[in-house]
Amino acid sequence: MSSTPQTSHIQPIGVFDSGVGGLTVLRHLIHTMSSEEFVYLGDTARVPYGNKSPETIRHYTRQCVNFLLGFDVKAIVIACNTASALALDLAREISPVPVIGMIHPAAATAVQQTQNGKIGIIGTRATIGSHAYELAISDYAHSIKKHIDVYSKACPLFVPLAEEDFGEHPASALIAKEYLQDFIDKEIDTLVLGCTHYPLLKDLILRTLPGISLIDCGESATNELSSIMNINNQPNINTFPTVRLFTTDTAQSFTSIAKRCIGLDLPEPILISQETLEEQGLSGL
Ligand code: DGL
Repeated sequence: MSSTPQTSHIQPIGVFDSGVGGLTVLRHLIHTMSSEEFVYLGDTARVPYGNKSPETIRHYTRQCVNFLLGFDVKAIVIACNTASALALDLAREISPVPVIGMIHPAAATAVQQTQNGKIGIIGTRATIGSHAYELAISDYAHSIKKHIDVYSKACPLFVPLAEEDFGEHPASALIAKEYLQDFIDKEIDTLVLGCTHYPLLKDLILRTLPGISLIDCGESATNELSSIMNINNQPNINTFPTVRLFTTDTAQSFTSIAKRCIGLDLPEPILISQETLEEQGLSGL
């Protein structure tokens, strides 16, 4: 009797975020690994994660990881800086497959790219409060003997502005100035977009800080996943990438942002209940 052994390349890659932000990561993943299958979970019922306690963020992360493991994924990308900052250790503990977070790849890219050694970090309150970026930058800079000054700022209002597609609204320019003008005095030359929602506001941020070099954590994390799994050397299995989208609540902006961000004709997201996610979380306890 012959059976077909399951090889790693026919398994999907799991990706999750609190909402639409992770779509900015999925865009890079699809572009770089265009023959892969992806399962994306946007926890739209509970966004934002960034104002919640570390305990709650870890609880949600456990549920999202277990939900994705149910698809027999070959890797998980935590396309959320907040969950990466607060729960990467937990995700790696419960996952039998590699888990890629957002913080370390972006920190390394920023340290490599800065010319004057002055880096700004923006993120949610939870990410900035965790000091995960400062630690990752300090570790990496130390390892390559480079001196870096880091300046951090929580920008919580950027998440709803991105979710509402408000980047071009005049009110957003005022909010961006309020959050970002200190970075001009600090003379940073590199700014880490330490929240995956923020690339959706890239033009707004560049208008506020002209000439700054922006680090997109999704791009850095994609490079890390690609090199870890050596996926590029595996045979193609699809002519086009396959994407399955799940959300925990109806999100009107989700579909339009997904289409604009990814640029493909994506399927409608499938709604899963919070109870389902809760059960997934319990199954891993
Ligand atoms: N996009 C997420 C991040 O990268 C979280 C935003 C939120 O839910 O507060 O941090």
